[in-house]
Amino acid sequence: MIILVKNGHIIDPSQGIDGVGDILIEDGKIKEVRTQNTPTPTLPHRGGGQGWGGDSELRTIDAKGLYVLPGLIDMHTHLREPGFEYKETINTGTTAAVRGGFTTVCCMPNTYPVNDNASVTEFIIRKAAQEGLCTVLPIGVITKGQKGEELAEMGAMRDEGCVAFSDDGYPVTNSLLMRRALEYSKAFSVPIISHCEDLTLSEGGVMNEGLLSVTLGLKGIPAEAEMIMVYRDISLAELTGGRLHIAHVSTEGSVRLIRDAKKRGVDVTAETCPHYFSITEDAVTGYNTNAKVNPPLGAKRDVEAIKEGLRDGTIDVIATDHAPHHIDEKLQEFDKAPSGISGLETALGLSMKLVDEGILTISQLVEKMALNPARILNLLVTGPKGTLKPGADADITIIDMKKEVKIEAAKLTSKGKNTPFDGWVLKGMPVVTISKGRIYEWQ
Ligand code: DOR
Repeated sequence: MIILVKNGHIIDPSQGIDGVGDILIEDGKIKEVRTQNTPTPTLPHRGGGQGWGGDSELRTIDAKGLYVLPGLIDMHTHLREPGFEYKETINTGTTAAVRGGFTTVCCMPNTYPVNDNASVTEFIIRKAAQEGLCTVLPIGVITKGQKGEELAEMGAMRDEGCVAFSDDGYPVTNSLLMRRALEYSKAFSVPIISHCEDLTLSEGGVMNEGLLSVTLGLKGIPAEAEMIMVYRDISLAELTGGRLHIAHVSTEGSVRLIRDAKKRGVDVTAETCPHYFSITEDAVTGYNTNAKVNPPLGAKRDVEAIKEGLRDGTIDVIATDHAPHHIDEKLQEFDKAPSGISGLETALGLSMKLVDEGILTISQLVEKMALNPARILNLLVTGPKGTLKPGADADITIIDMKKEVKIEAAKLTSKGKNTPFDGWVLKGMPVVTISKGRIYEWQ
């Protein structure tokens, strides 16, 4: 099948492309990209010079007035399968992903059983090949059973297809284990994604510690619970030379620590999520469990610091931390409800606000949502993904900057309707997502 995406405004930071042009796709791969004054790509002849071999093989997409980007990569998604299919499945999660403009999602291992051995990794890969709408790349655990006691078989999981390791949902409290994991990360050349939380400080906490937590009578989590672990892990990355990636950065202090570490040349990268730069702890008011997330939503100064961290490059990646939960679980009282926000379908629109505010250019946004995740996860070599270079997977996200969408939680594609952005109007939404040449489109 041949696809021609015509007249779109192509943004591809991997090649410095920012201009109107066409993209030719053949058999699920990018064949050619031409911009501005260069002519339309030459349509290849098939069947020994006998022409097209039938019109059905050519599909033209008119992208005039639309942005055409390398497919977005979410390096932090909870797909919940195996084990928690009532919250999400590989099928429903990847459906939400393509709806949100993502062509690759990396799924966190806190499933049941947890992804702590090659057979679980293999199950996920097989299921995704059968039922997934986009590419699914598994993340394996750091410690067996996520118990923090013993390292999992990272080498076997890496060989099976895991692109990173994380105990996400929990920190690795044992510093020696974290040291060893970082040593392996260097040897295997895969990142360790750290959920930074000092459990002795956060224990029992359900929201950010401050005046609001006192007013609401909820136990708070101080920002230091995140910062202390960020500092420890940076120190261990410095000691080992390992590849550290800090997950869901939410506090001003963490941004400062990561900025300083990068200046010293430590091999550390970081992600934040749209909810950490779009809303504050105020969203919890009224005991809104859809705003309960771990780490918790911060204060205004945290939001400002995160935006500055995105602007100055301290924070490399915008990831969703898509954490779908069942409505009945979120209907419990605030203390008991699980943490998490369903994020795949709102991430792009919320991130586009950063472009509107002049914090990021659209090209920098693509870096944070496609190129940098690809770099960190070695996908520029193996897909390639995160780029529109010829030979790369035909993963493309087409966005209409004029299209406004009112988010209606109940109508999200994901099984997880748990969003604090219900009723928000977002602009710059995907209208076409192409995943390895498979086309998904919406009005
Ligand atoms: O809010 C969160 N939800 N934070 C995490 O680290 C885990 C996630 C989940 O799995 O629900």
